[in-house]
Amino acid sequence: MTLFSTLMGKQKLLPIIQADSVSQGLEIAKAMAAAGIGLVEVVLRTQASIDIIKAIKLELPDLKVGAGTVLDADILKQALAAGSDFIITPTISSSLLTHLDNCKVPVLPGVSNSSDILLAREFGYTELKLFPASLSGGAPFLKAMGSVFKDITFCPTGGINEKNQQEFLALTNVFAVGGTWIVNPEWVANKDWSKITSACKTAQGL
Ligand code: 3PG
Repeated sequence: MTLFSTLMGKQKLLPIIQADSVSQGLEIAKAMAAAGIGLVEVVLRTQASIDIIKAIKLELPDLKVGAGTVLDADILKQALAAGSDFIITPTISSSLLTHLDNCKVPVLPGVSNSSDILLAREFGYTELKLFPASLSGGAPFLKAMGSVFKDITFCPTGGINEKNQQEFLALTNVFAVGGTWIVNPEWVANKDWSKITSACKTAQGL
């Protein structure tokens, strides 16, 4: 199975799309792609989310798009049927991990403590999302986990922003950071898409 980090390539920023409509989601994705972003996550938290994934696959075929907030077998099925290139979960259980075992695309399971990390590791995962990163101990927690789980690397999300992203990326067991901070709701309301492009460029240090 391809690792999630392999799919990301050199990209260190995992931009998260949360939008209320397909057109809004598409504009956000286009603005991200204009910044050189090659992979985005759409969180399945609005009615439009699954259709946004389908629309991105159709209109922006070069952009890899995955589904976040996958919590159960039913949502997983919908996300895969929409063409998701990868699957991300906010948390895990043995049952969810068992469903994910049959996935043909890379999976990034979400963890928030050392028991979760061990459970995911027992299912064979070496790359995990820490969520919500800022409330789950942040960079000091990840540093501590580095000395215990030497074979695990992380993509923290939840509370990451332009001020703290570097603190996370400086850790040897962090391969990327993710978040929604690059999409300010005000910019979306004003259809100011170029600000999203600029924020993505800044976050990537371009
Ligand atoms: C996620 O699903 O990873 C989070 O919603 C991202 O958190 P953020 O909105 O604090 O970036």
